[in-house]
Amino acid sequence: MKDFDLVIRNGTIVTSSDIFSGDIGIKRGEIKELGRNLSERAEDVYDAKGKYIFPGGIDAHTHLDMPFGGTFSSDDFNTGTKAAAIGGTTTIVDFAVQPQGKTLNETIEMWREKADGNACIDYGLHLAITQMNDKTREEIPQVIRDGYSSFKVFMIYEGMMVDDLTFMEVLDIASENNGLISVHAENPFVIDYFTKKLLESGKTAPKYHEISRPAYCEGEATNRAISLAKMTNAPLYVVHCSCEESASEIKKAREEGFPIMGETCPQYLLLSRDNYEEEGFNGAKYVMSPPLRDKKNWNYLWKALNDGVLQTVATDHCPFFMKQKRMGLDDFTKIPNGAPGIELRMALMYSYGVDKGNISIEKFVQLTSTNVAKIFGLYPKKGSIVVGGDADLMIFDPEKKVKISKDILHENVDYTPYEELELKGYPVATFSRGELIAEDGEYIGSENRGEFIKRSGPKII
Ligand code: URP
Ligand code: ZN
Ligand code: ZN
Ligand code: ZN
Repeated sequence: MKDFDLVIRNGTIVTSSDIFSGDIGIKRGEIKELGRNLSERAEDVYDAKGKYIFPGGIDAHTHLDMPFGGTFSSDDFNTGTKAAAIGGTTTIVDFAVQPQGKTLNETIEMWREKADGNACIDYGLHLAITQMNDKTREEIPQVIRDGYSSFKVFMIYEGMMVDDLTFMEVLDIASENNGLISVHAENPFVIDYFTKKLLESGKTAPKYHEISRPAYCEGEATNRAISLAKMTNAPLYVVHCSCEESASEIKKAREEGFPIMGETCPQYLLLSRDNYEEEGFNGAKYVMSPPLRDKKNWNYLWKALNDGVLQTVATDHCPFFMKQKRMGLDDFTKIPNGAPGIELRMALMYSYGVDKGNISIEKFVQLTSTNVAKIFGLYPKKGSIVVGGDADLMIFDPEKKVKISKDILHENVDYTPYEELELKGYPVATFSRGELIAEDGEYIGSENRGEFIKRSGPKII
């Protein structure tokens, strides 16, 4: 009997704080040893010469099979997690959104039915709370104990949004029980006001989506969300910061010593409001909330990532086929909000982050994996390359050049917002708990092998 089921040898191992060359010895899905010349003690060997070995990506913001905007996001837990795996992501945390009239436990049951036996990588679930009542109050501490340790509130979207009172109560109860609250911060009254004016003057095209919700609308809501967190002594995680107006609110609160954290997404670092000008109805590809912003925000967001103002990069993967987007052909408010991105996050962040000199290679690991694991109660089992941790690894060829096209991707949708962008560096293999599940752009793992992960409380970073 050999010491290891598998040794990945000769790679350059990169963690959130170190780079070193060596071998990784894996047994029963866990990393057992980091060292040199481990191959002879292994049943099987994978040669990673010339490649980086990164902790598998963790995407803490996905919407798979989600009922939204009168339709469903087009990737389910099977197709979405396969695309994620091909792109080097080994864990997701998806949002289980409480339908009106349902309890949190009923919501969990609904989402576990979608995910269990379908997902191909490991997954956790955040609970999006849409209503507060005695039952919700009673369930919050219990679901945290069951491993659903993070919550979300939406400040917009009919049927999902909560008022400040409910928001405050979620902050108060969840934080008292070692849960973390995240927030989609935009002001619904501002959006309604501008939308009405735009539609009344016949401005119905996709580009008016962005005009209906200016950056201040996100900044104001972020400020309000942070104020509520301050008053309840709760930590807060602001999802998908798109602009200086929101990120600067997080910066200010952190400088004052409050436990406020934030995320951005590749689309806000690489795409801009100019995309809404694409011909015909193509601007609808980029209709998401918050919307793409002026390019001038890019530098601010890269700096915020570098300075630790924002700690993570997630995708907000929420794909819709163009035929679904066409529900809003005559009215931008009827375009389902969201865009794909689950397969490209790691490659985009390496190419446009590390290769272009915007972030260090260690920062890349922090933003895409280690910090995410810490914040969402997955660390150190996930998010690192450490003895005792899961052997979730992305093998990455820093020299591989790829021109992005929908045709090379596996997301269940008929476009990518990143079409024609050039990449230098691409994932070539993905291991999940020691199993080679993706290689050279194809999913090759066993079907439906993903496991639900119970998460512990947040580490504030
Ligand atoms: O437009 C978006 N972002 N759709 C997904 C739901 C959300 O707001 O995160
Ligand atoms: Zn959102
Ligand atoms: Zn989202
Ligand atoms: Zn393929």
